[in-house]
Amino acid sequence: MTAATPGATAPWPTDGLSYGGDYNPEQWPRVVWDDDVRLMAEAGVNLVTLGVFAWGTVEVADDVRDWSWLDDAIGLLHAHGIAVDLATPTAAPPSWLLTAHPGIAPVLADGYREPAGGRNAWCPESEVYRRYALRHVDALARRYGDHPAVRLWHVGNELGGGNARCYCDDSAAGFRRWLHARHGSLEAVNAAWGTAQWGHRYGAWEEIMPPRGRHGAPNPGLFLDFERYSSDALLAHYLAEKEVLERHSAVPVTTNLMVGAGAQVVDYASWAPHTAVVANDHYTLVGDLPAGVREHDLALAADRMRGMSPGRPWLLMESSTGGPSWQRRNRAKDPGEIVRHSLGHVARGSDGAMFFQWRASRAGAEQFHSAMLPHAGTRSRVWQEVVELGGHLRALQEVAGTAVEPARAAMIVDDAAGWALQHGLMPHRELSYGRELGAWHRALWDRQVLCDVVPPGTALDGYDLVVVPTLMVVDDDTAARVSAVVARGGTVLVTYLSGVCDAHGQVRTGGFPGAFADLLGAWSDEFYPLQDGQAVGLDDGGEAADWTERVHLDGAEAVVRYATSSLAGGPAVTRRRHGGGSAWYVSAALGADGVGRVVDHLLAESGVPRVLEAAPGLEAVRRRRDDRSYLFLLNHTDDDQKVAAAGYDLLSGADVGPLTVVAAGGVRVLREPRRPAPG
Ligand code: GLA
Repeated sequence: MTAATPGATAPWPTDGLSYGGDYNPEQWPRVVWDDDVRLMAEAGVNLVTLGVFAWGTVEVADDVRDWSWLDDAIGLLHAHGIAVDLATPTAAPPSWLLTAHPGIAPVLADGYREPAGGRNAWCPESEVYRRYALRHVDALARRYGDHPAVRLWHVGNELGGGNARCYCDDSAAGFRRWLHARHGSLEAVNAAWGTAQWGHRYGAWEEIMPPRGRHGAPNPGLFLDFERYSSDALLAHYLAEKEVLERHSAVPVTTNLMVGAGAQVVDYASWAPHTAVVANDHYTLVGDLPAGVREHDLALAADRMRGMSPGRPWLLMESSTGGPSWQRRNRAKDPGEIVRHSLGHVARGSDGAMFFQWRASRAGAEQFHSAMLPHAGTRSRVWQEVVELGGHLRALQEVAGTAVEPARAAMIVDDAAGWALQHGLMPHRELSYGRELGAWHRALWDRQVLCDVVPPGTALDGYDLVVVPTLMVVDDDTAARVSAVVARGGTVLVTYLSGVCDAHGQVRTGGFPGAFADLLGAWSDEFYPLQDGQAVGLDDGGEAADWTERVHLDGAEAVVRYATSSLAGGPAVTRRRHGGGSAWYVSAALGADGVGRVVDHLLAESGVPRVLEAAPGLEAVRRRRDDRSYLFLLNHTDDDQKVAAAGYDLLSGADVGPLTVVAAGGVRVLREPRRPAPG
């Protein structure tokens, strides 16, 4: 795609940390708005996202616009000192447009065209959609581009949420153009995809189709390229809107990504450099996850955001104060969780906490979604905690603009690897990318070790420990960068299936894990995926589930061996020392204990320190600027935790330490005694 515009110099939308949420005044009578701004002031709200789904309420008919309510809303917010993150409302095309041009809607793999009535019901290749969307964005930018309340542009909403893939004829044509640009010639496409198999050689561009249908076995190269193309097609739409906005306005531009623990619907890491503020929507998942697991998922997502936003704060653009409404059973947050979860994001680099949405909607699809101001109003427990959080964020103003202390551990995560792992005729179709990378990140989190989660293109120079979990698709450049970590004395961990394929999805021959086999001094000649419920014993007392391999040593030593199955006696976990560095291979899906044991070795060997020593579930992260540092302590457990930490607690306003108790479920943020910045 086009050259990125890093937002390093973009002004932050608020003075200090941002606090607020999506504000949809168009759903309410005007009299309610006065109540809204009064209560926003009470809660300490300083930023709202406005107009996200307001295309149809402004452009009420083709090229006929009623700006009155939006003028009024922006003016009211401005008068009350609340900054506006103004959305281009292109996520939800108006009904009149979809009725006149039903071809705007995306087509699913089985040929079904989405009907009107949802959101993101548009295909990024639809010229009609693009024309209407940009026309409206142009009008919006002209009208409000230099309004003093508007501090951030918010393009669309969760691009890819609902329209991540479109299989229509326009998309097929767009895919072919994208392939031409990527590969240069049809012959190169045939070579990259290995189309000799099943006689699928292409003799003309028109023969190439998106992976339509339901048979579930597309050529892996075609499949991967279609995923990449789909991500780029949506990014192209974002960039087209951004370009229009920037024509009329100097206000920074962003869009809200959806980054969680596993592979994402589009490759947001490649989008992040095109946003002035890297912004994420994060919702804690499914109700039956125990405390600790929920928060770990949050920490992993936040570490991914930091990996996409190196050296600058990012923004939690949406989260929830309680149950969302799109899960099967929507769990409410327990008392304390609104504060703890929000500050968990701040600890890991978000310069604010925003929610969907300000006031709960009475009507419409999301009427039972939680909000900052719930249906029960200000006498609700949620409202009290929203006000409390606002107070905390004000107390943390001096933290704004500080950086999370540089991590010395990194994990490489790539959506393309996740896509490859979970589609097609795989040796095991139930492996989960999110589960595998989550297991390794979790073990570090449990030990209070900060780990940047970075996309493959990231420079690895500053890291002493690099973890590479099931990175199935790897180009030569990434493999070389990982090897360089070991060559300069660092520690690398590679887990099964990593490096098995090249960037086109073709298997690297000569022994698994192809791209890393030389580095690891170990290789396997055969996969042994396990059946449901089957476990293989290991000689350290642990067990493997899901995945094992027959491994051969070629310079490495066996640290753990298989103890049962036909692999008994063979290496399961290996280590090769290179000078001061070492390269570890884990050929099996280990249980949490086994992962923990390996991580203990890795930390001891690499010298990567814990932020402090505490029980699992006590999260500790430091943010700093120059010689000023802030230690975030979040207790996700049900017991009070005592840790060796001292300073002035910005939340309680008290000096604490040298031993500090963090109450069960509580949070402290300590301004620590001054000490020289490291390095
Ligand atoms: C997403 C959307 C919001 C809202 C929430 C509900 O994050 O961006 O508009 O639908 O989900 O959780």
